[in-house]
Amino acid sequence: MAAAALVAAAAEEMPEGTVRNVLEQETLKWVFVGGKGGVGKTTCSSILAILLATVRSSVLIISTDPAHNLSDAFQQRFTKSPTLVHGFTNLYAMEVDPNVEQEDLGSSEGMDSLVSELANAIPGIDEAMSFAEMLKLVQTMDYSVIVFDTAPTGHTLRLLQFPSTLEKGLAKMMTLKSRFGGLLNQMTRLFGVDDDFGEDAILGKLEGMKDVIEQVNKQFKDPDLTTFVCVCIPEFLSLYETERLVQELTKFEIDTHNIIINQVLYDEEGAESKLLKARMRMQQKYIDQFYLLYDDFHITKLPLLPEEVTGVDALKAFSQRFLTPYQPSTTRGSVEGLERRIATLRQQLIEAEAELEKLNKGKQKA
Ligand SMILES: Nc1ncnc2c1ncn2[C@@H]1O[C@H](COP(=O)(O)OP(=O)(O)O)[C@@H](O)[C@H]1O
Ligand SMILES: [Mg+2]
Repeated sequence: MAAAALVAAAAEEMPEGTVRNVLEQETLKWVFVGGKGGVGKTTCSSILAILLATVRSSVLIISTDPAHNLSDAFQQRFTKSPTLVHGFTNLYAMEVDPNVEQEDLGSSEGMDSLVSELANAIPGIDEAMSFAEMLKLVQTMDYSVIVFDTAPTGHTLRLLQFPSTLEKGLAKMMTLKSRFGGLLNQMTRLFGVDDDFGEDAILGKLEGMKDVIEQVNKQFKDPDLTTFVCVCIPEFLSLYETERLVQELTKFEIDTHNIIINQVLYDEEGAESKLLKARMRMQQKYIDQFYLLYDDFHITKLPLLPEEVTGVDALKAFSQRFLTPYQPSTTRGSVEGLERRIATLRQQLIEAEAELEKLNKGKQKA
């Protein structure tokens, strides 16, 4: 087969390198965007929301990152209730602080205070409940799709783990209830709660939460309704972090099939910088590894721009890059570029095989 035909055949098997698939999946209700701080989550989630607004009746973007910067990206103040984004008729944004709700619970009187006390005994349960309350609220608002600009990796995974955390917590409470009988009732009196609001009311409230969380959990695990878009940059740590994220998502049965590689360097015409060339080679090494590891993912590459991406106009302009596969000028269609990539891949294959052999030898010894 001629080289060109071979390349074309290979390209045909690879998922398209754009986020178009997210726009085309009409059943999607929840789109999570996550990755390490600074890689471009807010930029990418904002642009995804803008693009979704062109094909959906209404879109809500929610930031759950305590270090909010949706306001910076859109250059507009947002609060904890949905606000229409300037220049749109169907795009809303809100910023939710996962910790605020918790403080509210703790400072309030009566039953809530007791619930909060009990909840504190089960780590993560209060955060889970405030997250569930937020989701419940959002669900009643009837947006066609909701995009999450999520907190850095660890935090996001904790959020997605909440349903099981809460279920475990509830099970624990039920055993406590049967084991200590009236003790819980005495406690409620101790906390100054009316008899009418005793243990049954508390358990009722928790049961209600459980229903919401179970419902949410079911939706998050349904690939027709939910997907997680991983954002990263072409560097070792980011590759490592992405792999960890993908594995965790798989463990929680949450669909993920898009990776956005942001801040890819490209050769400016006439640029003769050795540093730039060296950095580009380094990036290419990791980009190749992304393609090897995630050959069934849509991998969207985005260039590092000379300027920040702030304001609706800049976001809209950059959004075009999300819809057309990105090919840096150095490798575009050139035989040299392809040969270079093949050489890199061949080298990586040799290294991987050597490693495998080492592992196999180790296994035989054991
Ligand atoms: N491809 C890019 N080229 C240039 N600047 C970018 C690019 N992607 C993001 N930025 C800028 O980098 C900064 C961090 O991006 P942001 O999306 O806020 O990251 P995160 O939300 O992951 O912390 C912002 O100032 C943003 O405008
Ligand atoms: Mg951000």
